[in-house]
Amino acid sequence: MAEHPKLGIRTNRICCIGAGYVGGPTMATIALKCPHLQVDIVDMNEERISRWNSDDLPIYEPGLGEVVKACRGKNLFFSTDVKKGVEEADIIFASVNTPTKTQGVGKGRAADLRFIESVGRTIAQFANRSKIVIEKSTVPIKTAEAIARVLSANEAASGSRKNFWILSNPEFLAEGTAMADLDQPDRVLIGGQDQDAIGVLVDIYANWVPRERILCTNLWSSELSKLVANAFLAQRVSSINSISRLCERTGADVKEVSRAVGADTRIGPKFLNASVGFGGSCFQKDILNLVYICQQFGLEEEGAYWQQVVDMNDHQKVTFTSKIIQALFNTVTKKKIAVFGFAFKKDTGDVRETPALLVCDMLMKDGAIVHVYDPKVAIEDALQEFKYHDLEVNQSQFIFSTSAEEACDGAHAIVVLTEWDEFKKYDYQKFYSKMMKPAFLFDGRNMLDHAGLEKIGFEVHALGKARVATEHHHQDFVMRAGSRGSAGYS
Ligand code: UDX
Ligand code: ADP
Repeated sequence: MAEHPKLGIRTNRICCIGAGYVGGPTMATIALKCPHLQVDIVDMNEERISRWNSDDLPIYEPGLGEVVKACRGKNLFFSTDVKKGVEEADIIFASVNTPTKTQGVGKGRAADLRFIESVGRTIAQFANRSKIVIEKSTVPIKTAEAIARVLSANEAASGSRKNFWILSNPEFLAEGTAMADLDQPDRVLIGGQDQDAIGVLVDIYANWVPRERILCTNLWSSELSKLVANAFLAQRVSSINSISRLCERTGADVKEVSRAVGADTRIGPKFLNASVGFGGSCFQKDILNLVYICQQFGLEEEGAYWQQVVDMNDHQKVTFTSKIIQALFNTVTKKKIAVFGFAFKKDTGDVRETPALLVCDMLMKDGAIVHVYDPKVAIEDALQEFKYHDLEVNQSQFIFSTSAEEACDGAHAIVVLTEWDEFKKYDYQKFYSKMMKPAFLFDGRNMLDHAGLEKIGFEVHALGKARVATEHHHQDFVMRAGSRGSAGYS
């Protein structure tokens, strides 16, 4: 059996606690790239594990199914036996959820570390020998210290002499592209205090990642870098979204602006697409966490600066929805609205912090009957997210359609909230013929062929484009001239 000469740990097996969006794809990739290693994923959620062991995986991620199929039962195993997992492997990944606290000190901002802490206690309870413990979940800076304290305090109390090396190895995969991101990461970040322990993890990744892309830092830099990377990405989205409104008022086109700005190599083209707002399990949570940490260290202004990124995102969702209500003659009461997409972005069924939540909530509060079509989201998941945010849903106002066409039948407007590729391929002429007139289309992802839709007859509202203003000028002119074309304005 392979044993590390200095650390005295077995290096042929890996256990991952937590079979979620991060743990699942990451471990599947390690299993694929390292056929000489056995990878066990354990989770206390029985339903989740039984789905990992079936053909109906609990998460949708392009390419994941194939890898799981290729490795499962060979060197990749899913189980609820956490004890056995911890006993049999000396390299343990912690990949559990770290939601924002919903009560108590730091409510709404601080990360809720109870799952991380429980992992620490579980390892303390079952570890029969020395182990490397790797934080994979996104955690606030100094979490490693908390895990280390739980482990060392239990160790001292039991009187044994095991060692625990804590490493931080944050995940930078994005949902929808997770398998590609894992296959060819821009970088792998490993933080730790012990060079030998770091070396064990470097050797695992080096099976497929070029060594120069594996960055080793101290623990705290690694933990903080993850929050900062997400905060910077989210900030770019909020920045371009704020500019989209300025474009609408001035006649500039946000797509042209973002192309011009992104062409500057110092800025670069990525993460400059104006949208209805960013969502997902990481951005908001990580920024709020950063805000909280700044405040904890007495950095009020710095905290306020980052808070503004989240505030701008909320503002974006509100203004987008207000625009819909305004355009529909200031009321959507009893109007059917077809919502295309509920996931926080394409190629995932994940609805955590999706902007669709607030948009639909606002529309329903105004009386709309919302008909959602999303290729991967199930209504139960959507309803659960409403509940998580303490938002009440009247189910007669929130309906899931089995096709986009069905959602459009008799609708006053189409509202695009997720950039699914299939939305580009639809026969909008057919949809238009089934809709109420005027038929509106609000493109919250700026992804459709707006000129083509206008030609069909849609009144299209894009993000960050002042088309409406020019049309109004035209109609004002027509009205002043006393033409019958002004009928709609009387
Ligand atoms: C993010 C980070 O990218 C990833 O590195 C980290 O590990 C986890 O958080 P993810 O949440 O999966 O990944 O999605 P991402 O692709 O980053 O998009 C986040 C949100 O921003 C989505 O709602 C997306 O639609 C939105 N977005 C992104 C925009 O609105 N405009 C853009 O230009 C880019
Ligand atoms: P992420 O997006 O970070 O992967 P998920 O919520 O998708 O988060 O997955 C986290 C998983 O961790 C869940 O399936 C949950 O059941 C599991 N989990 C949390 N705490 C523990 C624990 N102490 N022991 C085993 N599994 C845990």
